[in-house]
Amino acid sequence: MFAILTCLWLALLSTTFALPVLETRNAEPEEPSSTVSFSDFLASLHRRGGPSPPSPPGLSNFIGPNSCNIAKLQSSMPTAPTPLPSVDSDLQISHVAVGRGVQIYNCSDPSSTPTNVGAKASLFNVTCLASSDLEFVTWMTYAALYYSVPSDSDPNSMINQDLSGHHYFLDPTTPFFNMDTTAHQYGNGAFKKNSTSNAPKTQGPMPLPSNQTGSVAWLKLTEKNPGDGQVFQEVYRLNTVGGAAPATCQGQPQSFEVQYAAQYWLFT
Ligand SMILES: *[C@@H]1O[C@H](CO)[C@@H](O)[C@H](O)[C@H]1NC(C)=O
Ligand SMILES: *[C@@H]1O[C@H](CO)[C@@H](O)[C@H](O)[C@H]1NC(C)=O
Ligand SMILES: *[C@@H]1O[C@H](CO)[C@@H](O)[C@H](O)[C@H]1NC(C)=O
Ligand SMILES: *[C@@H]1O[C@H](CO)[C@@H](O)[C@H](O)[C@H]1NC(C)=O
Repeated sequence: MFAILTCLWLALLSTTFALPVLETRNAEPEEPSSTVSFSDFLASLHRRGGPSPPSPPGLSNFIGPNSCNIAKLQSSMPTAPTPLPSVDSDLQISHVAVGRGVQIYNCSDPSSTPTNVGAKASLFNVTCLASSDLEFVTWMTYAALYYSVPSDSDPNSMINQDLSGHHYFLDPTTPFFNMDTTAHQYGNGAFKKNSTSNAPKTQGPMPLPSNQTGSVAWLKLTEKNPGDGQVFQEVYRLNTVGGAAPATCQGQPQSFEVQYAAQYWLFT
């Protein structure tokens, strides 16, 4: 078993060395393989401290046995440039996920501006990692935009290992989080927009891919139907990366998608 793991580790390490440098705007990175989870793939890209060797792949290398302190996350949530309303004082942090997917826009005529009609994203569980290394989670959120999520309908596939669930819209104003899978039941919930705050003007740890026009706003969402007993009651979308619409509908089809990544902080 150990030998197999070592071989896998070495194979991943050589892949890591072969990957183009993300800081290059025109980078055409290799797509993740389907033999590692998406989070592990992103973790394997991390090269903290520049020229020193990359950290071994695998989230387990970043998370010590005692470092999953979910309660600690309550006070470490990132603050928007214009702060969003704070979390309801009765609520507790339950889950932190990196979301990777698309914002969906519609256009009626070329002189109009695109209308956001929804989004869909895969959510990856970084709850423990965020409690031990939030800076790294933010790095991962940026790196995620450079890669598409490998898909595999088999819930036991390695690539689904850290999947929290999915984010999508029930209608254009009702974002939904479904974090119940065959592997776990973290909860779900329907939301409405409570407030928004423009994404910071200055970029985070790496530039946006060159075909992106900006990052979608940071948001606070609250329960759509209070009192209906859903698990999650407030959600914050933070550290958004990409996903903004072009300025006008000129040259755009009736409906189109813009790639994005973001952190989702869910409270119960
Ligand atoms: C995934 O999220 C749950 C909370 O929904 C948490 O208890 C668990 O430790 C998390 N796992 C990781 C690897 O972060
Ligand atoms: C946002 O949430 C706060 C606190 O729950 C509430 O007082 C306020 O009315 C909400 N605003 C909107 C626009 O929903
Ligand atoms: C967006 O456009 C698509 C394709 O034309 C259409 O099916 C959908 O209903 C539109 N959504 C909204 C909210 O207008
Ligand atoms: C940007 O380029 C990527 C990779 O080629 C592509 O998947 C995406 O659709 C392009 N456009 C946007 C707005 O993301």
